[in-house]
Amino acid sequence: MSESIAFNPEASKEEKYQDLLPQLKALLEGETDLIANLANVSAVLKTVFEFWWVGFYLIKQEELVLGPFQGPLACTRIALGQGVCGKVASNKSTIIVKDVSTFEGHIACSAASRSEIVVPLFSQENKLAGVLDVDSEHLAHFDHIDQHYLEKLSAILKKQDWDA
Ligand code: SME
Repeated sequence: MSESIAFNPEASKEEKYQDLLPQLKALLEGETDLIANLANVSAVLKTVFEFWWVGFYLIKQEELVLGPFQGPLACTRIALGQGVCGKVASNKSTIIVKDVSTFEGHIACSAASRSEIVVPLFSQENKLAGVLDVDSEHLAHFDHIDQHYLEKLSAILKKQDWDA
């Protein structure tokens, strides 16, 4: 397994995603443990893009429970349908929030978070497995480029052993 990820800090956001995804895919293919893999994915995204918070919420007994993440302390449980994460879990489609103060029901785990993107994650049987939540301390930080590549990452993550 590769112990490091190569990226050019000067590259554009899209170039960074294009560089990273094959490396993340290789990293995930070298390890079967779900928690180890999600921990590394959150670390890589946080390091490369310097996001405020990057992490996973996993479906456990019909609610979202905090999984591996990088960043400040976060809420541990989110009901389906609640907050951005819970809405994504219910609707099974990505939500980009340009200004969290305008999103009804947004759950503020950190007062510093101003915008976010949440992407649903699925098992190989297309069962909802959880969500990937990325937060920024800047307004309107996420766009269709983040959506495109984070959904590609979600597709790569399908192979994980989500029932572990
Ligand atoms: N803001 C999210 C909650 C999770 S934290 O931001 C880490 C939401 O509204 O679902």
